[in-house]
Amino acid sequence: MNRPFSGNPGEAQPQVDAGSGGGGASHPTAVVICSDAAVRTRLAMLLGAGTAAFGSVDELADALDGSPIVAVLGPSFVDPIELTAAEQLLAARREVAAIMVTDELSTDLLQRALRAGVKDVLQSPVEPHDLQAAVDRVGRTIGPVSTVSGPGSEQFDDDGEVGRVVMVFSTKGGSGKSVIASNLAVLLAQRSEKPVVLVDADLQFGDVAVMLKLAPQHTIVDAVSSLDRMDATMLRELLVEHQPEGLLVLPAPLEPAFADQIGAAEMVRIVETLRTFAGYVVIDTPAYFNDVVLGLIEVSDDVLLVAGMDIPNIKNVKIGLQTLRLLNTPMEKLRLILNRANSKVRLDSSEVERTLGVKADALIPSDIVVPQAVNRGEPVVLSAPRSEVAKAFGQLADQFIPSGSKKRWF
Ligand SMILES: Nc1ncnc2c1ncn2[C@@H]1O[C@H](COP(=O)(O)OP(=O)(O)O)[C@@H](O)[C@H]1O
Ligand SMILES: [Mg+2]
Repeated sequence: MNRPFSGNPGEAQPQVDAGSGGGGASHPTAVVICSDAAVRTRLAMLLGAGTAAFGSVDELADALDGSPIVAVLGPSFVDPIELTAAEQLLAARREVAAIMVTDELSTDLLQRALRAGVKDVLQSPVEPHDLQAAVDRVGRTIGPVSTVSGPGSEQFDDDGEVGRVVMVFSTKGGSGKSVIASNLAVLLAQRSEKPVVLVDADLQFGDVAVMLKLAPQHTIVDAVSSLDRMDATMLRELLVEHQPEGLLVLPAPLEPAFADQIGAAEMVRIVETLRTFAGYVVIDTPAYFNDVVLGLIEVSDDVLLVAGMDIPNIKNVKIGLQTLRLLNTPMEKLRLILNRANSKVRLDSSEVERTLGVKADALIPSDIVVPQAVNRGEPVVLSAPRSEVAKAFGQLADQFIPSGSKKRWF
């Protein structure tokens, strides 16, 4: 009750021990950071008496003791310097997750906040109930901070590094996204020391499970419906394993109608949980921009943009590239993959590169063994490893983990 609401350096240092702030024992510990004293007091009051409040990120950093904390960042974090400080703290301290409360919510601010690692942005005035709900939701995304023991714990060998998220995207259906995502994921699973997960985010028409001939017991729908209780161990149980390389797959819903139940926040949360234990999370996507795709682009380290070798394909990919630029997607994330690059369609890859204004990072040839493999439910890198197309996938995978090495490259 007598906890200080202000974290001014001269004052007694607020304690940040788990389970104390925010009232009920089932809530994660929340703290408020804002350089405006009146605002931080008001926000702290919304979360209940006893919620610690700090004037800056540094003050919170000094008070951390390793227990999971949800930091509610006040409106002063629109300031890029403050936001950068928060970003650094969030990157360095995995036990801290953040929400931002802002006076004015713009797409620009939302993007900057998400890029800084903030999990949710709320617009003030915010109701106590909504703020608490956001704190609870975000609190559950804090991965295991201490070593987890118990069944399968060797899978969660936590070196403190989060996995790399590689999304395969195109604005044209049939361009080869699913073929590329599944073959790349299989190769990374062969080469990676840590688990590799393939997520089918083509929620309506996902066909990764069919391409890999898997009979899934669970899909993304199960992950979303148990999201409240979700942690890495639970999520791992829902994944189906592809043999022999041990790729873990989270399949799309079996019925297109279920797609509506799954929003961007849920998908992002699932991916963020997967990357706590996976070395790589490869994501297959639908052929259009929706909120799920936009959310996933934000959290992805790499966006592999797939272009087929015909004019409608190139036109659509060009529009897709323009959209990504408008969304301020960092261009360093983008890698262009030209699929069916040797087709006798009189389109030269250098011509395509010139049209798109981007150099291709990989050229995947057209090969009859691809549809043959798809129809057998086998990834071509396993069924025809000596084919030219399998070699091209090998070179694509080399850009993440060189073949023959068991070490991650980035
Ligand atoms: N490099 C390729 N060579 C030959 N056929 C291909 C190649 N890439 C994709 N295909 C064929 O195109 C079809 C569509 O590919 P898919 O990966 O399902 O596209 P998307 O997921 O983008 O809709 C597949 O069934 C496959 O047979
Ligand atoms: Mg597909």
